[in-house]
Amino acid sequence: MTARDKTISGKLLHWYDAHARDLPWRAPPGAPAPDPYRVWLSEVMLQQTTVAAVKPYFAKFTEKWPTAEALAAADEAEVLAAWAGLGYYSRARNLVKCAAKVAARGSFPRSEAELLTLPGLGPYTAAAITAIAFGERAVVVDANVERVVARLFAVREALPAARKPIREYADQITPSQRAGDFAQAMMDLGATICAARDPKCLLCPLAGDCAAKKAGIAEELPLKAEKKPKPERRGVAWWIEREGHVWLVRRAGQGMLAGMRALPDNGWSAQADGAGEPPLSGDWRNLGAVRHIFTHAALTLDLHHCVTGASNLTGTGEWWPIDRLDEAGLPTLFAKVARLAIAQRS
Ligand code: ADE
Repeated sequence: MTARDKTISGKLLHWYDAHARDLPWRAPPGAPAPDPYRVWLSEVMLQQTTVAAVKPYFAKFTEKWPTAEALAAADEAEVLAAWAGLGYYSRARNLVKCAAKVAARGSFPRSEAELLTLPGLGPYTAAAITAIAFGERAVVVDANVERVVARLFAVREALPAARKPIREYADQITPSQRAGDFAQAMMDLGATICAARDPKCLLCPLAGDCAAKKAGIAEELPLKAEKKPKPERRGVAWWIEREGHVWLVRRAGQGMLAGMRALPDNGWSAQADGAGEPPLSGDWRNLGAVRHIFTHAALTLDLHHCVTGASNLTGTGEWWPIDRLDEAGLPTLFAKVARLAIAQRS
C-alpha cells in the first residue's frame, strides 16, 4: 500500500476500482469522464429516486433526446409524459428550461458557481456535475454520502442540523484527484455496504476508520429529528367512460402535478376540503379510494365512475382509449386511480 492508499479517500478509491457499480450514465473507474449532458440528466433523475427506478427512464430519455439541444427543442408536454412515474414533476419542467439555456450557450458551464445559475440546478447537482463530468474537486453530499460520513465520524447530531458538520467532514476527506470517482465511490459505499439498515461493516474498506463502528452505533446513525405527520387531504376524481375511452384533462400550469395529463378532479390540490361538482350529471358510482403520499401531504382520493353517451363535456380534455392508458403519461397518483377504476368498474 502506498501512503495515499492509507488515507480514507485512497482506501475508498481502491475499493471502488474493484467494486464500482456499472451504471449507464457512468464511466468506469479511472476512465475519461462521461458526457456532461448524461451526468446532468442522471443526477436530476436520481434526486429522490432510486437507481433501479431511474434506469429505464434514463434509457428512454437519452434515446429520444440524446443531447441538450435535442431536449431543448422537445415539446414540454412530451417530456412531462416521458417523466410520468418519476415524481417531483417540477424537475421535468426545469429540465427543458435548463436544456434550452445550455443549448443557447453551447455547452454546460464548467464551474460550480455558473452551474448553480441554471434552472433547477441546486448545490448537490452542481457539485455532482463538477466532480463527475469535469473531474474538478467538489464536495458532493447526497443521502448516501450523508450516512457514510455521519458514521465515519460518529456525528451524533440529528438531521437536518447534522448537515453542517457532515458537510465539513465530507470536505475534509474529499481528494483533489479523481473527484468524480470519489463522489461515486461514496455513493456506492452508502448504497451497497453502509446501508441504512443492516450495514455490512465486515466488507467495508473504511471499517478500521469508522468511529461509529468503534462505538457500536453504526446502524443508529445518522439520527433524524422526529418528523411531523403530514397534513391529510381528501379529494374526488372522476372516471368518465364512453365507448372504451376515458375523459382525460391536462392539469393547470401551476400547482401540484402542473401540466400533467390527469383525470378530472375536484381541485383538492388547491383547497383543503372536498368540494366541487362532477363535470357532468349522471349515474355516479363510488369505486373506492386511492391513498397517495406526497412530500408535503397525504391524500385520500375518492374515485367516482360514470358511463356517458355525451361526447362533448365542459372544459378541455380528450377521450383516451382505455386499453392504451399506459401511453398517456399519467403521474403515479392517477395511474393508481386508473388501475382501481379498471379493476372495480363492471
Ligand atoms: N445517486 C445520485 N447520483 C448517483 C450516481 N452518480 N451514481 C449512483 N447513485 C447516485
